[in-house]
Amino acid sequence: MKNRKILVTSALPYANGPIHIGHLVEYIQTDIWVRFQKMCGHECYYICASDAHGTPIMLKAEEEGISPETLVTKTREEHLEHFSGFSIEFDNFHTTHSDENKHIVEQIYSSLRDEGHIKKQPVQQFFDPVKTMFLPDRFIRGTCPSCGAPDQYGDSCEKCGSTYSPLDLIGPRSVLTSSPPEIKESEHLFFTLSAFTDVLLDWMEGVDLHPSVKNKLNEWFKIGLKDWDISRDEPYFGFKIPDNPGKYFYVWLDAPIGYLGSFKNFCEKKGMDFDHLIRESADLEMFHFVGKDIMYFHTLFWPALLSASGFKLPSNVFVHGFLTVNGQKMSKSRGTFITAKQYLENLDPEHLRYYFAAKIGSSIEDIDLSLEDYTFRVNADLVGKFVNIGSRCAGFLEKNFAGRLGGSVENSELLEKFQHSFGVISEGYEKREYRKVIRVVMGLADDANRYIDDKKPWKIAKDKSKSAELHEVITQGILMFRLLAIYLKPVLPELVGKVEKFLNESNLVFSNISDVPLNKKISKFGRLTDRIVQESVDNLQATLKEGNMQKEDKETEQYISIEDFKKIDFRVATITAAKEVEKSDKLIEIELDLGDRTSTVFAGIKGKYEVAELLDRKVVCVANLKPRKMRFGISEGMILAASGDQEGLFLLGPDDGAEAGMIVS
Ligand code: MSP
Ligand code: ZN
Repeated sequence: MKNRKILVTSALPYANGPIHIGHLVEYIQTDIWVRFQKMCGHECYYICASDAHGTPIMLKAEEEGISPETLVTKTREEHLEHFSGFSIEFDNFHTTHSDENKHIVEQIYSSLRDEGHIKKQPVQQFFDPVKTMFLPDRFIRGTCPSCGAPDQYGDSCEKCGSTYSPLDLIGPRSVLTSSPPEIKESEHLFFTLSAFTDVLLDWMEGVDLHPSVKNKLNEWFKIGLKDWDISRDEPYFGFKIPDNPGKYFYVWLDAPIGYLGSFKNFCEKKGMDFDHLIRESADLEMFHFVGKDIMYFHTLFWPALLSASGFKLPSNVFVHGFLTVNGQKMSKSRGTFITAKQYLENLDPEHLRYYFAAKIGSSIEDIDLSLEDYTFRVNADLVGKFVNIGSRCAGFLEKNFAGRLGGSVENSELLEKFQHSFGVISEGYEKREYRKVIRVVMGLADDANRYIDDKKPWKIAKDKSKSAELHEVITQGILMFRLLAIYLKPVLPELVGKVEKFLNESNLVFSNISDVPLNKKISKFGRLTDRIVQESVDNLQATLKEGNMQKEDKETEQYISIEDFKKIDFRVATITAAKEVEKSDKLIEIELDLGDRTSTVFAGIKGKYEVAELLDRKVVCVANLKPRKMRFGISEGMILAASGDQEGLFLLGPDDGAEAGMIVS
């Protein structure tokens, strides 16, 4: 087998929150792949880092009263502790806020600029006048312009799923200061991604992307690639853009470059020639594991950035789906948001590695953790099948043969079947079809258990004259167990580490598959792993509930005061005119008579109400909402409506007799 040189990355975790089991789907699957490659004898480097930059990290540090650097250092250490708790073993885990990264970022930027791939363009953006900073979309909330759902993010609505520009949000508020944001213009730098369409098409044809990833890319190409805004205004935590005072590189520019920054840091420590290795001509392969949410960055922006500077393009991007817990999106309020720490405090990390492996395939479909299924699978397969083989045989060897394996096996054909399974198993690992690997290995475990059931060593042992036969059968059992342990080692490094001690082997790799260590003295069989007891699962669930209750307590502090409430000027109004906004799916433009004046509002009720039935109707409106410029005109207020999850919308109105202009309180 040709010896490969492989650089492997997982996405860089943001340094402002804990690692949770959703993240672990990625880091565990990457770690398994890396361990597999290393066991094949390849040179493989697992490279990662903290994603240190951006507004959320800057603000979180501010909130905690520490510098962003300190926050990143602290979070990085915490992440590393939890990763190592799950035996996720990086060859290097750096940070994007590093000299190495800054250097490469500037190098790539100047190539882009010199080749004419950077252009400047003014951008209108919300600005928080109290905090004096531009607001990222996630820091603006308001009413969805599509469906009218209140309190939605600046870029998308969780209720109806539509995406929009934050400038279209109705009644926007800054999340930071609750003040209504202003619209302000600023000049931004754009990377002309579309200039790389051909490069990207070529790249896409040359790499073995998963069909569903390829489809997604083709969709994007069909729509056409848009220029990418790579700058942010101060205050920001990141790298300054040379020659552009007050401007910073957007975190998503320097984050993927952070893969190379971390690799450079690694190469320097190891005395390896970084500059040579990452050239397009070098024989280094580079693979990125990422979640489906960040596919665009990794399959379009990233290869384009690399190509602009003559760097090695990714050999592949492995995209995975999201983790759901008990069939639903992880959520704190449902008690299904499990942090790495909470898991480690209650359950065995290798059990999660095993369970994920049993579920992970190469597709981008979501995978589900059902705690019930998890308990069942681990107990039935890992403990009941695999570990059982070892424990069934070890006692006989110790008691009857002083712990020494026999000079022959009872069924060499069966042992060969185990050895020959390496073909399918290694293909499964290589293609990230881990669930197939687990299926094959558990099939072999069934064979082994059946063999022991048939031979009934406990019966043979009763007959002193059959000692040679017993020795052969037990040796056969242990050697089959040994092979299964080798196959499972990428998934279960800790557990198989214990098997290695038992077998007196120092570091099993795939070339050891052909060994048949006859007559070998082996050690005592210790406890490899325990069955999952329901109590541990219950404890974990209790912890999650507790955390959730604390969160609710906090929320009760967030009541508004009567003074806050009194600030809102609710009025009865009569609808005097209404017309559908042509270019919008949801909006109706409404004229309101407020008694002393009229005003125009845009309401997201198209489809639910006909224009004709609105006329002359009395509604309740917020009369002192600051006028907001929307795409279709200026909205000067808001009319109130009730809405459920699915049931649609219901305009609120006063009882008969109320007059336009009446105060509602
Ligand atoms: N910082 C960026 C990545 C920059 S890479 C140059 C980021 N960080 S993250 O912490 O939000 O996510 C890290 C990885 O975990 C991403 O690949 C993301 O898709 C993955 N996951 C986060 N939540 C997940 C699930 N619930 N399920 C599966 N993977 C998930 O994105
Ligand atoms: Zn909506």
